Amino acid sequence: MARDVAIVGVGMTKFGEHWDKGLRELIMEAGIKSVEDAGISGKDIELIIGGSMSSGIFAGQDHTGALFTDYLGLNPIPSIRTEAACASSSVALSTGIMAVQSGRYNCVVIGGVEKMTDVYSNMATTTLAGAMDRDNEANFGLTFPGVYALMAKRHMHQYGTTREQIAMVAVKNHENAMHNPNAQFHRKITVDDVLKSPLVSDPLRLLDCSPIADGASSLVIVPAEKAKQYTDTPIYIRASSQASDTLGLYRRPDITTVNANVVASRNAYKQAGMTPKDIHFAEVHDCFTINEIIATEDLGFVKKGDGGRFVQSGETQLGGKIPINTSGGLKAKGHPVGATGVAQVIEAVEQLRGNAGGRQVSGAENGLTHNVGGSGSTVVVHILSRNRK
Ligand code: COA
Repeated sequence: MARDVAIVGVGMTKFGEHWDKGLRELIMEAGIKSVEDAGISGKDIELIIGGSMSSGIFAGQDHTGALFTDYLGLNPIPSIRTEAACASSSVALSTGIMAVQSGRYNCVVIGGVEKMTDVYSNMATTTLAGAMDRDNEANFGLTFPGVYALMAKRHMHQYGTTREQIAMVAVKNHENAMHNPNAQFHRKITVDDVLKSPLVSDPLRLLDCSPIADGASSLVIVPAEKAKQYTDTPIYIRASSQASDTLGLYRRPDITTVNANVVASRNAYKQAGMTPKDIHFAEVHDCFTINEIIATEDLGFVKKGDGGRFVQSGETQLGGKIPINTSGGLKAKGHPVGATGVAQVIEAVEQLRGNAGGRQVSGAENGLTHNVGGSGSTVVVHILSRNRK
């Protein structure tokens, strides 16, 4: 019987442009914060698992598992680096959960890092495109803004989703980020601002895109039965589920849905013994505004095709039926790709601890995180709860 797993410590850097910090300073800041938050000593930590997508190109430094262990002063414990594009650190977490569930490890630090702003935007775009089908898509000029623009166009055509509804995702997430000190942007925007921002890939504009960013995130996991030794408010991992879809968008029968979203979330609900109605808030992968709309549908919060109207109804805002991306999401909190998955889980932990300040969802007991690699080729869903069962 697999053991239950709990999160007892979290820590992250502010996301944004960190000209004054390298990869290792970001890792140290987030890692030390999470260890201090858990109140553990270095001697308790048995394993480190850290996600990063392309640190070798972005920062000239690969082997980030060893970098984590070395610069957190934890040699000679083992370390593992995970890579699954923008879902790299969620895969670090799901791997760590398996390590604790198995009984082999009792204290694992999970991390994620990316330092993207040391290269020019065109280089960042080319590097990110390595997460799609290189031979059949990227080599013909397709970029990630292009991939999600195709999905947006099709969604608009098939379901009547409007350009304004898509913009409302960005407006809401910028509003939420105003209450998040770790967010990259603290700037309110309007639908008009989005629609007048520079065109990136039709119909998506600058303010529909997550930004290029630097940052790191970290958390500490232990077996649930030991969690109260460290904290009065452990947050329990009720489900950890991963699914895959084609690397290339062009091989999918319907580009308004991501099958891996559907499969990963349905398996997660089953593991947790919950339905979408039991989830009180969610952090979803809004790398581009349209993807939040697609995610809310695929995760079962609203019927397929109704995601645009759902945003417009206000039900995804704070105080709505299911607040989405209270952290500001990738759009406004920032998206240092390797750090994003763990940062989503950190937001869920802060919400469930009741520590989310001006963005707190009142009475939140269960939250869901949804992290995507590529255009949904990897999807990882976690369900977290204040309650162990
Ligand atoms: N949202 C809001 N503002 C943004 C922004 C974004 N996504 N990206 C840049 N800005 C702002 C900058 O802060 C800057 O503002 P300032 O002039 O007040 O300082 C201005 O826009 C220009 O920034 P710059 O860095 O020159 O933008 P860029 O044109 O090089 O890059 C994008 C803009 C949209 C192309 C880039 O952010 C991008 O590629 N995003 C997508 C990243 C991605 O694909 N991630 C993986 C997802 S699968």
